[in-house]
Formats: sequence, C-alpha cells, structure tokens
Amino acid sequence: MSYYVRLMRREDIAQVTEIDRGAFPTEWPPVDYERELQNWLAHYIVACDDNEMSDEPEVTVAPDKGLSKLASRLRRLFNYEPSFPSELLPSPGRQYILGFAGFWIMADEAHITNIAVRETHRHQGIGELLLISMVDLATRLNAGKFTLEVRASNIAAQSLYYKYGFTQVGLRRGYYTDNKEDAILMSIENITSASCQSRLNQLKKAHSQKWGIALNQVAR
Ligand SMILES: CC(C)(COP(=O)(O)OP(=O)(O)OC[C@H]1O[C@@H](n2cnc3c(N)ncnc32)[C@H](O)[C@@H]1OP(=O)(O)O)[C@@H](O)C(=O)NCCC(=O)NCCS
Repeated sequence: MSYYVRLMRREDIAQVTEIDRGAFPTEWPPVDYERELQNWLAHYIVACDDNEMSDEPEVTVAPDKGLSKLASRLRRLFNYEPSFPSELLPSPGRQYILGFAGFWIMADEAHITNIAVRETHRHQGIGELLLISMVDLATRLNAGKFTLEVRASNIAAQSLYYKYGFTQVGLRRGYYTDNKEDAILMSIENITSASCQSRLNQLKKAHSQKWGIALNQVAR
C-alpha cells in the first residue's frame, strides 16, 4: 500500500469537509476548515493514497481582491468572510484523501480535535497511521501531553486511543449538544517517558508489519 501523511492544504478542504460530514453528520456547526488552517494553534494532517486521484475538481481559494491580510482577518473574526465554498475556484486533479486528523497545541499540551477516515477505507490501519503521525508531529512541536474528548458511545475511537496508551481522566455529562451524550475525557500525561516511547515504537513496528504502510515523517 502506498499511503502517506502530509500537512493539510487549502485545496484539501472540500474532501476533508466531506469526510467530516460523513463521520460527524449531527455535529453542528460544522468545523470551518478554512478558518482552522489559519489558526496558528491548529495543525491538521491528511492521509493520501499515492495511487489514486480525486475525480472531483481541485479547489483553490481565490486571492483577496485588494484587501490587506489584516482586513481579511478582521472580517473572518467577525464572520463577514464570504463563506466556503462560494470563494473557491475549481482547478484540475488532486490527491485522494482517505482520512484526516487535527490537534491544537497550547503550551505543552496537544488537544486532539478530530480524527476521521472515509467509511469505505476503515479497518485498514489508516486511523492508526493518522494517530501515530499526529503524536510524532505534536511531540516534535514540544507537546508532552495529549488530551481529547470522545463520545461515550464511540467504542471504535476509544479502543484506538486505549491502544495507544490514552487513559480516561474524566467525564463531561451531556457535553454533546445534538443528543446530550456524555464526553469521556482521555489523556496521555507524558508522551516522552521511556514507557510511552517504548510502547509507541512497538505499535509503530506492529502497524507497519501488519499493513505494510511505510511511515513518513510529516514536515512541520
Ligand atoms: C475511529 C476511526 C478514526 C478509526 O479508523 P480506522 O482506520 O478504521 O482504524 P484502524 O483500522 O487504524 O484501527 C486501529 C484500531 O482502532 C480500533 N478500532 C477501529 N475500528 C474499531 C471498531 N469498529 N470497533 C472496535 N475498535 C475499533 C481498534 O483498537 C483498532 O486496532 P486493532 O486493529 O488492533 O483492533 C474511524 O472509525 C472513524 O473515522 N470513525 C468516525 C469518526 C470518529 O468517530 N472519530 C473519533 C472522534 S473522537
């Protein structure tokens, strides 16, 4: 398999939004990935299939017409930015994205905001590939601790996190507004500890042996 992981780009937004909506159809409002890409705390990655191209037109963002970057930021801050996708223009050919993930870095803590894989491509090690890549990238950005929230009913995601050494550290009752479901808070307190690193290395080795996916380092 020739999958690889890289930082998310603006031209990925349409596919990432499609995967997000497929995975989290009831979460409202939907994540604005255009805004997330401009958020200096946020880091998003995508897993691509080297052999497959998307048949949808690539989208690129039209340049600001004479507006300074500051004015553009202020408009976004106050929600006056023309909303996606009206400002996107088509251009031909783009990589097929199988899944994406993201986190915010605050001090030494990486808070995982999202991870999702296309339904058609689940159970093929891609979620794990994304989690490994996120942990690697965040560690290189000096994160020592990882946190996240996950729905109480989301056994697949919890199982993935437990596998990688996350433990439950709390519960937020009725956290999700769509169905008032509880959120389980999970964390890894010290990713740089010898025990965490040794576990991670074993899991990386087992993943690459099982799936034959070579891990690439995501450029910062
Ligand atoms: C969670 C998700 C990202 C996993 O992606 P995936 O590519 O299918 O996962 P992988 O094939 O890499 O599986 C890795 C591990 O995840 C866990 N897992 C994945 N699917 C599972 C399932 N249906 N039931 C239980 N555990 C599961 C297992 O621990 C698995 O390890 P194993 O193969 O040794 O058992 C995927 O199910 C998804 O996109 N779900 C919808 C979005 C979502 O809920 N995101 C989490 C938000 S907090």
